[in-house]
Amino acid sequence: MKKLAIFASGTGSNAAKIIDFFSVPEKQIQVALIVCNNSNAGVLQIASKNFIPTLIIHKEQFINGNAYLPQLKQLEIDFIVLAGFLWKIPQKLIEAFPNKIINIHPALLPKYGGKGMYGDNVHKAVIENKETQSGITIHFVNEQYDEGEIIFQTSCNIDEKDTAKTLAKKIHELEHKHFSKVIEQIISK
Ligand code: GAR
Repeated sequence: MKKLAIFASGTGSNAAKIIDFFSVPEKQIQVALIVCNNSNAGVLQIASKNFIPTLIIHKEQFINGNAYLPQLKQLEIDFIVLAGFLWKIPQKLIEAFPNKIINIHPALLPKYGGKGMYGDNVHKAVIENKETQSGITIHFVNEQYDEGEIIFQTSCNIDEKDTAKTLAKKIHELEHKHFSKVIEQIISK
């Protein structure tokens, strides 16, 4: 059994899907921890409803301290998934989990990535630029925001009536459909 930690900062709709996907007994992967930097985030209610332990993290300890490695090691976490997690991952954590941290980004990287490019900011920029397509990118995490090796991408069309809100819905649908399966493939390799 491999143990997965999900890092999330917000609503947690992706976290909810991942928890459901791996909650069936025949899966060899278990969501063992939800890590969150915001004590008001919706993802914490999802964790509690599913009886999954949570860890609330603080910036100084995460970025300049031990990056919460002792807690992750104690729970024997094998793999980390970022699902709407907004802080940059410190070098210490990347070194402790080589090729074992993956992120989902709500656009077709390398476009619309980097600092400040998260959630609705991404969709607003895509709509403002009159793009005709957007999509999702699942990638390994390295020291640079959104620059690790790409594992999976899929796209959707944008039509003239789309707004940042309707695009966000399309993107969430793609994320919910693909993310858990890609996580399973990568962990099972
Ligand atoms: C998702 O769309 C995810 O791709 C995005 O945040 C959203 C979280 O939604 N992540 C980023 O923008 C990272 N740069 P959720 O809380 O409902 O899963």
